[in-house]
Amino acid sequence: MKYRELGRTGWKVSEISFGCWAIGSQWGDVDDKESLAALHRAVDLGVNFFDTADIYGMGRSERLVAQLRKERSEPIYVATKMGRKLSPHTAQGYNAANFALFVEESLRNLNTDCLDLVQLHCPPVETLYMPEMFDALDGLVRQGKIRYYGVSVEKVEEALAAIEYPNVQLIQIIFNAFRHRPARLFFPEAKRRGVGILARVPLASGLLTGKMTLDSRFPQEDHRNFNRYGQAFDRGETFSGVDFEAGLKAVDELRQALPAGVSMTQFALRWILMFDAVTCAIPGAKRPAQIEENVAASDLPPLSGVQMKAVENVYNQYCRAQVHHRW
Ligand SMILES: NC(=O)c1ccc[n+]([C@@H]2O[C@H](COP(=O)([O-])OP(=O)(O)OC[C@H]3O[C@@H](n4cnc5c(N)ncnc54)[C@H](OP(=O)(O)O)[C@@H]3O)[C@@H](O)[C@H]2O)c1
Repeated sequence: MKYRELGRTGWKVSEISFGCWAIGSQWGDVDDKESLAALHRAVDLGVNFFDTADIYGMGRSERLVAQLRKERSEPIYVATKMGRKLSPHTAQGYNAANFALFVEESLRNLNTDCLDLVQLHCPPVETLYMPEMFDALDGLVRQGKIRYYGVSVEKVEEALAAIEYPNVQLIQIIFNAFRHRPARLFFPEAKRRGVGILARVPLASGLLTGKMTLDSRFPQEDHRNFNRYGQAFDRGETFSGVDFEAGLKAVDELRQALPAGVSMTQFALRWILMFDAVTCAIPGAKRPAQIEENVAASDLPPLSGVQMKAVENVYNQYCRAQVHHRW
C-alpha cells in the first residue's frame, strides 16, 4: 500500500481507502459480520482511512467503523458526513444548532470525543455562499468536537466554490473512468491550495468491475435498482450517472486495454491513482475478497500512455455526452 498526504492535515492516508456506504444501507442486504471482516481485512492490508456518514444505515456504518477501531491498535482515520438527516434537506438547516446535534450523534456512534474529519454531505449549493456556515464549522474545531472538515460535492463548480474557504481540508467528488471533468478544472486549483481529494464512486457502483451484464438484477432496496434514474437522490450517485447499457458497452471496450493479469477493477482504480491531485480512491466493499482485489491496485505499475488514451477514447465515445456537462 502506498500513502498520500491528505490536504494540510499532515495525515498520510492509504491511496486505496474504504467507502463505508454499502455496509450501512441502500445496497441490498449486508451482514455485519461480513462487513466487519472486510473492514479488518482492509486494515491488515494497510488501509488506514474510512469514509462513512451519519445517514448510512442511520449510524450502522459509523458503529461498525467504531467497532473496528476498538478491535485494532493501528492508527485509523475516519471521515464522516453530516447534513442528510435534514428533512426537508434545505440550506437553512445547515446551521450551528443542527451541526451540534449531528456531531454529538456521530461522536456517540463513533465512540470518540473528537471526530477526525466531518464532511458536509452534498449540501444545497446555496450553502456554499453562506460564510456563516463555515464559521459554524470553525466553531466546532475550536470547541474540540471535530479536528478537520471538508465538503462532499456533486459538481465541479461546487468544489471550486467550497475550496475558497481557507479551512476546507478536502473535497469529495465523483471521479472515475466514466467521469473525467474534475481533472482539468478542479484538480490544479485543489493542488495549488493544498486541498485533499477523495475520489468517490470509483467503480461506478460496480459497473467498472466488469462483473455486470444485461441480465444483472439488483434487490429492491439497492439504489442500483431504485435510483437508476435519480428517483431518490442525485442520479450521478448511481452508476456515475451513465446509462447502464452504455456503461456495459464502455466496459467491454475497456477490456481491450487491460494489461495481462490485471482485473477491470484494478485497472479502473489504477487509472484514478494516475492523478497525483487525488489523495485516495474510496471504493465501497462488502466482503474481504473485494477489498483484497481493490487494494492490489496500489501495487500496480503506472498505466501506459496508450492505456490512458484508451480510457479517454471510451469516455468520449460512451460517457461524455451523458455526464460531462451535468456534473
Ligand atoms: N454523497 C456522497 O458523499 C457519497 C455518495 C456516494 C458514495 N460516497 C462514498 O464513496 C464510497 C464509494 O462509492 P460507492 O460505494 O457508491 O461506489 P463504488 O465504490 O463505485 O462501488 C462499490 C460497490 O462495487 C462492488 N465492488 C467493490 N469492489 C468490488 C470488487 N473487487 N469486485 C466486485 N465488486 C466490487 C460492491 O457492490 P456489490 O458487491 O453489491 O456489487 C461495492 O459496494 C461510498 O462507499 C461512500 O463512502 C459518498
